[in-house]
Amino acid sequence: MIIKLATRVYRSLRQRGIRHTLTAGFRALRTAAQMCRPETWRRRRSAQLRSRQFDKHFGVDTAGVQSLQEFTIVSENLADGVRYEPIDPDDFRAMLNQAGEIRGYTFVDFGAGKGRAMLLASEWPFSQIVGVEFASELVSHARQNVRQYKNPRQICHRLEVVEGDAATFRLPPGPLVLFFYNPLGKEVMARVVDNVRQPLAMEPRPVVVLYHTCTERELWNGQPGFEEFPTINDAAQFHYRQFEGTAL
Ligand SMILES: C[S@@+](CC[C@H](N)C(=O)[O-])C[C@H]1O[C@@H](n2cnc3c(N)ncnc32)[C@H](O)[C@@H]1O
Repeated sequence: MIIKLATRVYRSLRQRGIRHTLTAGFRALRTAAQMCRPETWRRRRSAQLRSRQFDKHFGVDTAGVQSLQEFTIVSENLADGVRYEPIDPDDFRAMLNQAGEIRGYTFVDFGAGKGRAMLLASEWPFSQIVGVEFASELVSHARQNVRQYKNPRQICHRLEVVEGDAATFRLPPGPLVLFFYNPLGKEVMARVVDNVRQPLAMEPRPVVVLYHTCTERELWNGQPGFEEFPTINDAAQFHYRQFEGTAL
C-alpha cells in the first residue's frame, strides 16, 4: 500500500509537477475525510451499487474510478484534468428531465470517459451525441461500450466518440446541450467557455449547459446571454437566451 502510494506520488510529480500533486493530494485527503462520515459513506455505497447495476443491465463496462496517470494522454492540459469517474445514472436522468425541450439538439460530453453519459443521453431525442475525451484507452473503451450497449429505450443511435482535447474541441452546428461532469480545472474550463461564446456571437442558437460537480460554475455564471436555471444539488444549469433576437 505504501509502495503503491509512493509510486503514484512519484509519477504525479514527474508527469504533472509539484503544484498539481499538492492540489491532488489535498483533494484526496478531503475526500477521505468526507468518506469517514457515515452518511457520505452510505450514499457512496449506494451510488457504487447503481453504477455496477447500470453496467450489468446494459452489457457495458463503465463503473469504477481511475486516476489519469493510468492512461496515455498527450496533452498540455493533463495537469488540469480530473480523474475518470462515471456519472451517477439517477443524477444524469434528473438533470436531463429538468433541461427543458431538447428534441433535435446535439448532446456534447466534454470529458466523455468510458461513455456513460453518452449512453444515458441516447434515451433522449437528440439528433446526435458526441463525446470528446483525451485519454486514448478511455476513447477505445467508450467506443466499445457504444457498440455493446443494449437498451430498448435507446432513441438516438448517432453516437460518436472523438479523441481530442476539450480545450480545442470545435462545437458542432445547431442547438446544443453541453454536458460536463467534473472534467476540467479552471484554466481549461475558461478556454472552453471562450470557445463556446465566440461561435455564439456569430451564429446565435439555443445552448443548454449542464454542469455536474460544478467547481468552476463562476466561469459560466454572468456570461452575457447565459441565464442560470435550477437543477439538482451539486449541479448547475445555464441556458443561452440571446439567440432570441439581441446580439452579443
Ligand atoms: C469525471 S470523468 C466524466 C466521465 C463522463 N463524462 C461521465 O459522465 O461518465 C472526467 C473525464 O474528463 C476527461 N478529461 C479531463 N480533462 C480533459 C480534457 N482537457 N480533454 C478531454 N477530456 C478530458 C478525463 O479523462 C475523464 O475521463
